[in-house]
Amino acid sequence: MKILVTGGAGYIGSHTLIELYAAGHTAVVVDNLSNSNPESLRRVAEIIGVDEIPFYQVDIRDKAGLESVFAEHTFDACIHFAGLKAVGESVEKPLEYYDNNIAGTLVLVEVMRNHGCKNIIFSSSATVYGDPEEIPITENCPKGVCTNPYGWTKSMLEQVLMDVQKADNEWNVVILRYFNPVGAHLSGRIGENPNGVPNNLMPYITQVAVGKRAELGVFGNDYPTHDGTGVRDYIHVVDLANGHVAALKAIERNCGVGIYNMGTGHGYSVLDMVNAFVKVNGVEVPYNIKPRRTGDIATCYCNPAKAKDELGWEAKFGIEEMVRDSWRWQRENPEGYD
Ligand code: NAD
Ligand code: UFG
Repeated sequence: MKILVTGGAGYIGSHTLIELYAAGHTAVVVDNLSNSNPESLRRVAEIIGVDEIPFYQVDIRDKAGLESVFAEHTFDACIHFAGLKAVGESVEKPLEYYDNNIAGTLVLVEVMRNHGCKNIIFSSSATVYGDPEEIPITENCPKGVCTNPYGWTKSMLEQVLMDVQKADNEWNVVILRYFNPVGAHLSGRIGENPNGVPNNLMPYITQVAVGKRAELGVFGNDYPTHDGTGVRDYIHVVDLANGHVAALKAIERNCGVGIYNMGTGHGYSVLDMVNAFVKVNGVEVPYNIKPRRTGDIATCYCNPAKAKDELGWEAKFGIEEMVRDSWRWQRENPEGYD
C-alpha cells in the first residue's frame, strides 16, 4: 500500500516508516517539523536503503498545502501521527492544542475524503481511559474523564472519526490507544528527541545517565503499587511501529471501526524501570523521591488480547530491550539529531 504518514519525522512515525517499508509498503511524509528534525528522515532512508523518503513540510491545518500533496500522490491509507503531545503545555495552551490537533485532523480528513482516501489509522492514547475503571484495561473499559486538554483532543478525535465512519461506511477507522512508548531502533540511529526538559520518564532517565541532568525526580512513592511508585505499560517503539503495519491488514479487510490497545500487558513501576536501566546498562541513575505529579494515576496497563486475536499482533520486546535500546540511542547521540 502507499501510505500518507502525517508526523512521520517524529519519534513513533520515524520508527513506523522503517517497518512499513520492511513489510513492502511505501510512504510519503507530511510534517511541519514543529517537534522534529528532518535528519530523522535522512537516517530512516539510510536504514531502509532508499535515496530518500518523500517529504512535504506542510502543516495539516493548511488545506491548500495538503491538497497539493494529494494532487501529486494517490494514497491507500493515512497513518495520522501529527499532533502536539506535551500534557503540561496543553494545560497552559489549550487553544493551541485544540487548534493543532482537532482543527488539523478535521482538515486532513476532509482532504482525504475529497480524494477518495477513506482509510485512517489514528494515534490515540491510554489517556482516554482517564482513571480506568478496570485493570488490566480492555477496550470495553469506558472512556473516562481526561485531566488535560491533550487528553481531550484524543478523546474527541476518536469520536469525530467514529462519526465520520458511521455516516459513510466506505471509511475504515483504526484507533490505536498507545500505552507508554519507549526504546529506539536497534541501529541506534533514530530515537526520541525531546526539546528542553523531558516530560516523560525514559528520556529523563537517559539524560541523567548521560550526564545532562543531575538526578531523576521520582514523582511519588506512596501509591498503592508494589513499591509505591507509579506503574505503567511500557512498550518498545519498534513493537508499536509493527502494530501499525498489522492495523493496515484490518483496513484491507474493511474493518469499519477498530479500536485496539497497544501495550505489552505488563506493568512496571518507576523504580522497576530505573533498576532495569542500571542493571542492563551498567550506568548510574541517581534519583530523589519528589511529591506526586498532578494528574498522575497509580496504575495503568492493558490487556492486549484484542490486538493479538484480531490483528495477529503482540509485543515481542521486554523491559531489557527497552532500556538497552533507549540507552544506545542516547549514548550514541547525546545531542539527539543536532
Ligand atoms: P512527536 O512529537 O515525536 O511526533 C509528532 C510529529 O507531528 C512531529 O514530527 C511534529 O513536528 C508533527 N506535527 C505536530 N503538529 C503538526 C501539524 N499541525 N502539522 C504537521 N505536522 C505536525 O510525537 P510521537 O511521540 O511520535 O507521537 C506521535 C503521535 O502519537 C502523536 O499524535 C501523539 O499524541 C501520540 N501518542 C504519543 C505517545 C507518546 O508517549 N509518545 C503516547 C500516546 C499517543
Ligand atoms: N515519572 C517520574 N519522573 C519523571 C517523569 C515521570 O517519576 O521525571 C513517572 C510518572 O509519575 C509516572 C511514570 O513515570 O508514574 C510515567 O510517566 P510519563 O510521563 O513517562 O508517562 P505518563 O504515563 O504520565 O503519560 C504518557 C504520555 C501521555 C499519554 C500516556 C498514556 O506522556 O501523553 O502516557 O498513553 F497520554
